[in-house]
Amino acid sequence: MNLVVVSNRITRGNANEPITGGLAAALLPIVEKSGAIWVGSSGRVRDGVQKEPFAEVEALGNGALAMLDLPAAHYGGYYEGFANSALWPALHSRADLIRVSQGDYLSYREVNAFMARALLRFRKADTAFWIQDYHFLALGAELRDLGVTQPIGFFLHTPWPARDVIEGVPHHRDLVEAMLAYDLIGFQTEDDCENFAGYLSATLGLAVADGIVMSQQHGPTRLAVFPIGIDVDKFARQAAKAVSHPDVSRLRRSLNGEKLAIGVDRLDYSKGLVNRINAFDRMWTMHPSLARTVSLLQIATPSRSAIEAYGNLQSELAKLVSDVNGRHGEVDWTPIRYLNKGFSQTVLAGLYRTAQVGVVTPLHDGMNLVAKEYVAAQNPDDPGVLVLSKFAGAANELDTALLVNPHDIDGMARTIAVALSMPFPERRMRWEAMMAKLRRGSIQHWFTSFVEALETARAERVPAPEPIEIIPALWPLRSVNA
Ligand code: G6P
Repeated sequence: MNLVVVSNRITRGNANEPITGGLAAALLPIVEKSGAIWVGSSGRVRDGVQKEPFAEVEALGNGALAMLDLPAAHYGGYYEGFANSALWPALHSRADLIRVSQGDYLSYREVNAFMARALLRFRKADTAFWIQDYHFLALGAELRDLGVTQPIGFFLHTPWPARDVIEGVPHHRDLVEAMLAYDLIGFQTEDDCENFAGYLSATLGLAVADGIVMSQQHGPTRLAVFPIGIDVDKFARQAAKAVSHPDVSRLRRSLNGEKLAIGVDRLDYSKGLVNRINAFDRMWTMHPSLARTVSLLQIATPSRSAIEAYGNLQSELAKLVSDVNGRHGEVDWTPIRYLNKGFSQTVLAGLYRTAQVGVVTPLHDGMNLVAKEYVAAQNPDDPGVLVLSKFAGAANELDTALLVNPHDIDGMARTIAVALSMPFPERRMRWEAMMAKLRRGSIQHWFTSFVEALETARAERVPAPEPIEIIPALWPLRSVNA
């Protein structure tokens, strides 16, 4: 099978460059190993009517990366508008943050249609398309409209919320109906899948039986759960090596024996950063003896800054951190080291291994791969403790982490203090249980189980493949690292 993976964000896989978001980090090794073609946004836009979508194609491990310039007139309405100011807030149960216009929706649909046209270049008789995330809910339907009969699967990296929340998104009905063009729709957790099925039955009047929903226009669509994972052993090796990286050694030296808690997030309101900082503030107030003995390294990488809600959060956090540091700090001690930049996966692996506590406390999160990476990065002879929000998808598997309610500031403060003083045998026991789960649910397992389920779902839908016209690729394959 010839697999074409599609996502808005892609990464070129340079080990020294930061990767934005869990999706790109997860897909990178999959594409490199499987030989898939990964199509996404180049981050550039192009003016005017494009006769042929422009893509730069380069090798990526055994696979290839095709970076597409998206249409300038629609990019803002699509990315900052409908995708990240309507869908993202709703998917994270923040319907109050929806700010969207009719024009944004039209741009979103235009970009989905544009991507569908661009994908025809990569279609072969045995191609399967695997579309990723909320940027492209309608892409499957656009491909079907262009006559594509090959398998098309979709995976949602974010949560799917309760019905009344998704109904806050303008055109929700059109979008979900369009999603039924997919042969297979994958979710991170059972809750997400059940919420989606609940919407189908209550809003669209469609019943889901044995994980299959039948629509008049598109026939059967299978719904299933595929929790995304990481390459545990590779990350563990990377972390063990990275402790000697200059950035990591400098951090260790600067600690002077003090303990470290670490948080690594995109600067996003779904990540619960304000509550987290408040929890540390509360902890130092409740346990003054912990001053000088533990500090927090919070990496908060700016994200989607052109959107008002993100700009506001950035200002609020900067003020809050400075207030907490001002009140608890000493001439030679800064309680919170707050950095607004990204780090490479290599450096992050070393930073995770250096920290005795990992704090991952989102208000809502599809999975959260930082939680998994923190666990994988630990030294087996002295593992750290993960403090994890029960509202992150990762909590389903990592149930021997210290699970917290990210809205309960006092509870989080107490739990972080418990994590800091946890004896070795308990740390080790909890860590081993998490490692065993991570090994069972690796990224390779996620990939193969989705692709197998897609083949099965398509076989159930179309008994025999129909002949198709193949359009040859119009641009040359420029290899940069083959
Ligand atoms: C989340 C989304 C991804 C997205 C990533 C980074 O993980 O599920 O689809 O790529 O955030 O966000 P950005 O808007 O910078 O691509």
